[in-house]
Amino acid sequence: MTRAANSNESVSEVSTKLPAPVFHDPKHHIKIYQGDCLEILAALPESCIDVIFADPPYFLSNGGITCHAGKMVSVNKGAWDKLPGPDLGPVRARFDKVHEFNTAWLAACQRVLKPDGSIWVSGTSHVIHSVGFAMQQLGFKLLNDISWVKPNPPPNLSCRYFTHATETIIWAARDKKSRHKFNYKLMKQTNAGRQMKSVWEILPPAAEEKRFGKHPAQKPLALIERILLASSNEGDLVLDPFLGSGTVLIAALRVHRRVAGCELELESLSLSLRRICSELVQVDISVACLQFSLDLFPDPMDRSNSTNMSGPISAKLVRRERNYYFVGSSRREVIYSAPADSLEEAWAKFTVSSQSGIEVIFIIKTETEIYLNDGT
Ligand SMILES: C[S@@+](CC[C@H](N)C(=O)[O-])C[C@H]1O[C@@H](n2cnc3c(N)ncnc32)[C@H](O)[C@@H]1O
Repeated sequence: MTRAANSNESVSEVSTKLPAPVFHDPKHHIKIYQGDCLEILAALPESCIDVIFADPPYFLSNGGITCHAGKMVSVNKGAWDKLPGPDLGPVRARFDKVHEFNTAWLAACQRVLKPDGSIWVSGTSHVIHSVGFAMQQLGFKLLNDISWVKPNPPPNLSCRYFTHATETIIWAARDKKSRHKFNYKLMKQTNAGRQMKSVWEILPPAAEEKRFGKHPAQKPLALIERILLASSNEGDLVLDPFLGSGTVLIAALRVHRRVAGCELELESLSLSLRRICSELVQVDISVACLQFSLDLFPDPMDRSNSTNMSGPISAKLVRRERNYYFVGSSRREVIYSAPADSLEEAWAKFTVSSQSGIEVIFIIKTETEIYLNDGT
């Protein structure tokens, strides 16, 4: 962000050479670029993207305080969230600079969207009003502003405001003539047969989604999956210019969309890579090693709504097994697998196997329980 917001270059003046992706999986159609999104977007061809999800910097890292897990902590999220350059003094100059940045990247997104493509932008009050205004100035067609409600927001320490319990996500089509995609029936079906409202109550990312590291602005997978399911179809091309921890990559893979994204900071980029590699290994194991799929979500569905769950079932456990899969570090595939009760036992089996000389990068444990539905 730093370079982009500091720069006076217009989108058309920046280099138009697309760098080599730092990660490319042609089989699953995933591309990750490292760099400033203004430069990457300028190098993409016009009208090639079906849907964009963007979660730009909030510019709220101003030394203030907030509450996290019951403790008073700094609001500072990292260098990427600070307005670069010297203190601009007057408030007006600061907001002009933020607005200039938002206008630049939104214009770049508009250029790469297909005529009927749409864009979703999430943000807190620090930035979302500038985003909405820039969209109006650029001629996007505003479709909805979604209120993402967080059920357990942190308390407000100053006791001078309501607790901040929502984030806004603006959904807009490329321009006034766009005939944007909206999978109305699917959204209604996942909302227990009622039209879905623009107020979405979705939990923040669970610990399981943060097991490869934390990003201060990580979005829940359920939120992004709903967005992609609502506004795109299988095989469509999704873009995220501000990847952060790579949530959009994983959501797109799960709902069978092609995806590309970029990120400026190395730390976030490596978190994205860890998350997507783990997801891909799981997909490959389910395809290559087992006779049945381990993919729990083979059909794209909206998992954010617990009303999808049907009532209690009666089932008998008929089989339980624990397996360990060893993934090689040069060829990222399963080189050895064994049933075992513990990692130590699995490792002992691996060391006496014919594969023991190969360097291992991941060991994945799976626990399978098969239940027989007795139909009551
Ligand atoms: C709000 S976070 C995105 C979080 C993400 N949605 C997730 O679920 O993890 C914004 C990210 O954009 C990155 N960023 C900021 N400016 C950028 C720029 N000009 N080009 C590319 N990435 C940028 C930051 O490093 C940060 O990781």
